[in-house]
Amino acid sequence: MKNILCIGAGYVGGPTMAMIASKCPDYKVTVVDINEERIDAWNSDDLPVYEPGLLEVVKAQRDKNLFFSTEVFKGIEEADIIFVCVNTPTKTFGKGAGRAANLQYCEITARQIREHAKRDIIVVEKSTVPVHTSKVIGQILSSGDPKYKFEVVSNPEFLAEGTAIKDLNNPDRVLIGGRPNGTGKAAVDELAKIYAHWVSEERIIKTDGWSSEMSKLTANAFLAQRVSSINSISALCEATGADVENIANAIGADSRIGAKFLKAGPGFGGSCFKKDILNLVYLCESFGLQEVADYWEQVVKMNDYQQNRIVSKIMKSQFNTIAGKKVLILGFAFKADTGDTRESPAINIVKQLADEQAEIVICDPKAISNAKLELIGVENVSYSEDPYDAAKNAHLAVLMTEWQEYKGLDYQKILTSMEAPASIFDTRNVLDHEDLFNLGFNVYPLGKKPLIQ
Ligand code: NAD
Ligand code: UGA
Repeated sequence: MKNILCIGAGYVGGPTMAMIASKCPDYKVTVVDINEERIDAWNSDDLPVYEPGLLEVVKAQRDKNLFFSTEVFKGIEEADIIFVCVNTPTKTFGKGAGRAANLQYCEITARQIREHAKRDIIVVEKSTVPVHTSKVIGQILSSGDPKYKFEVVSNPEFLAEGTAIKDLNNPDRVLIGGRPNGTGKAAVDELAKIYAHWVSEERIIKTDGWSSEMSKLTANAFLAQRVSSINSISALCEATGADVENIANAIGADSRIGAKFLKAGPGFGGSCFKKDILNLVYLCESFGLQEVADYWEQVVKMNDYQQNRIVSKIMKSQFNTIAGKKVLILGFAFKADTGDTRESPAINIVKQLADEQAEIVICDPKAISNAKLELIGVENVSYSEDPYDAAKNAHLAVLMTEWQEYKGLDYQKILTSMEAPASIFDTRNVLDHEDLFNLGFNVYPLGKKPLIQ
């Protein structure tokens, strides 16, 4: 039985390793983290990340061939293959602050592997990193004349939160990048063998390490670009009276464009899109490609614009004053089916509304505890599990996250308890706007005509 170790028990490390353990009973999989609280949660029924279907997979494998521990060095000593799944946030200090990736956690991990290894190890770079990081990690691992050999392979992760188990179970592709010959090729093949337990051969793409690293940044940049593109059109729709959903349907029917990722909304959130694009921008700038950098940076600027635009629309609907008015926020997670609030558009929008001295009540089925952390120090914000209670005496409601349960609320009941005239902003276009209008709401969809009483 070979030993797989994963360093970093976060949104990627935990679910990915649970899936490998479930599909590969011939491997022992250990996930380690320095965060003891997180490891305790992985060892309980209250997992640190909410993902539909994850608990079932974890429970089926835990303590059989899936283990969660804080013993990083012991894990390294026993490992044949190590996945590095640590965080690679945007640098907040020094050169490249606000743009470049902070690779300190990757580097620390590489040094620890070099010091504690007890055999030759394949080191799998799963964290999202700038191009050439595998080379840097390789240099750290081979410095100081170590006793053992290390082969670095890039294997970026493409799962999306909320659908992680589905994505891992049936990935569009698995990407493995490494050196094409000798021990490099052997390491790529060894990793491919693990995925081949459940992924068909044609979906396992083997390439060189640098292309693999850059494919991950490029994929996220293209996806985010689609969101910014459709959001830019939503602004034009509001100015012209066209309907962004009709446009998305029409262009999405073109098989060259495709229907996915054309939903206008409050902008992309999540821990990665913004950080990975800024990382790409920084890379371009470091190579003197200013025009390329500017091109990609515009995707992030458009995202900020969309959020500011929504705040302006809200203000305008309220006669430019919301001081003292109660605002019900439906959803705080950056998308449905996750408790993750990192970079959620709701953060920016709520902060701007709080600056205008609105009284804000936030509802979310899974993200209240994270929302509280995001909004530490922000005044006039309260939280509620119950949207009906939260709606009492509100002047307006803003749907921020497309949770299924918010589509089925009793909006008549909500309207009755709100102040008149009651307005509702549907930033995700998931509610029945005609129905809401007929109930008596002023309805503000995104990228289409408002319905005003
Ligand atoms: P995360 O912050 O949820 O988890 C990272 C974990 O690594 C943390 O628990 C942290 O304590 C741990 N860690 C850091 N340094 C460590 C060390 N030296 N030893 C042991 N543990 C250490 O991050 P995440 O969302 O899982 O993302 C991890 C990487 O995967 C990032 O590079 C991210 O860009 C990429 N990625 C994330 C997603 C996603 O959906 N979240 C998807 C694809 C790729
Ligand atoms: C995204 C990518 O989809 C994954 O492939 C990638 O692995 C991951 O980033 C990562 O590297 O972290 P994720 O951020 O979890 O996954 O979720 P997405 O479904 O991509 O949504 C991102 C944001 O875009 C959300 O805020 C979502 O609401 C928004 N979005 C998405 C839209 O506004 N419109 C759309 O049509 C699609």
